[in-house]
Amino acid sequence: MNVLEFTARKTQQQKISMITCYDFWSAQILNRTDVDTLLVGDSLAMVMHGMESTVHADIDLMALHVRAVARGAPDKFVIGDMPFLATRKGLSQTMDAVQALMQAGANAVKIEGEKGHAELIAHVVESGVPVIGHLGLTPQSVHGLGGHKVQAREAAAAEELLQSSRNLAAAGCSALVLECVPASVARNITQALAIPTIGIGAGPHTDGQVLVLQDMLGMNPDFKPKFLRHYANGFETITAAVNRFHTDTCRGCFPTAKESYR
Ligand code: KIV
Repeated sequence: MNVLEFTARKTQQQKISMITCYDFWSAQILNRTDVDTLLVGDSLAMVMHGMESTVHADIDLMALHVRAVARGAPDKFVIGDMPFLATRKGLSQTMDAVQALMQAGANAVKIEGEKGHAELIAHVVESGVPVIGHLGLTPQSVHGLGGHKVQAREAAAAEELLQSSRNLAAAGCSALVLECVPASVARNITQALAIPTIGIGAGPHTDGQVLVLQDMLGMNPDFKPKFLRHYANGFETITAAVNRFHTDTCRGCFPTAKESYR
């Protein structure tokens, strides 16, 4: 996968798979899978660090995780998420953040929102850095949106979202993540754009899908929003394995002679 393939995939009607990845060891596993792209999403603030929202991720944290993922998955197209307010403090600070993520090993950056920074996005693209847009539920704006809610349910909001999507495509984005919007809204946007849309909670008509790795592996059995499919029972698998190790240790049946040095 390289950035030119995003639009080619759409033209060929081949879907794009994207999965979040935050660390070296899972990157090594994902590097050996068929998945097309890895997103070092700022959701790592919550998933990896137990923070309350993605608002708490900063550029140092993001660059640290991008570096680990790039080391572990050298064959994958890695997208680094621009953190909260990274594009809202002017051109120079935006470019510093872009530089930090790209020099950490990202192949592209993802930027939430459009209003007020479409020109900055165009400048990043003109600088030779592929940009993935992100509209719909933009978690960095959780406080402004009044929570993690499905967006663009009303006709006027759907029309506004379509216009923002067009603006991002015009600014040169290579693809657009659409998060938590009605399937019909995502379908209209997907049909209107030449660049691919990648959905999460946006129904089946987008040009690709993205999920958070830990969510799709079922690491938190209590987290099951409508859009999520569990592809494994990670929580049960890990707790069972750790409990087996604990029992074997307590009973003295680990390690055996075969597992000991002579
Ligand atoms: O931060 C993230 O993981 C994301 C995806 C959910 C699209 O933005």
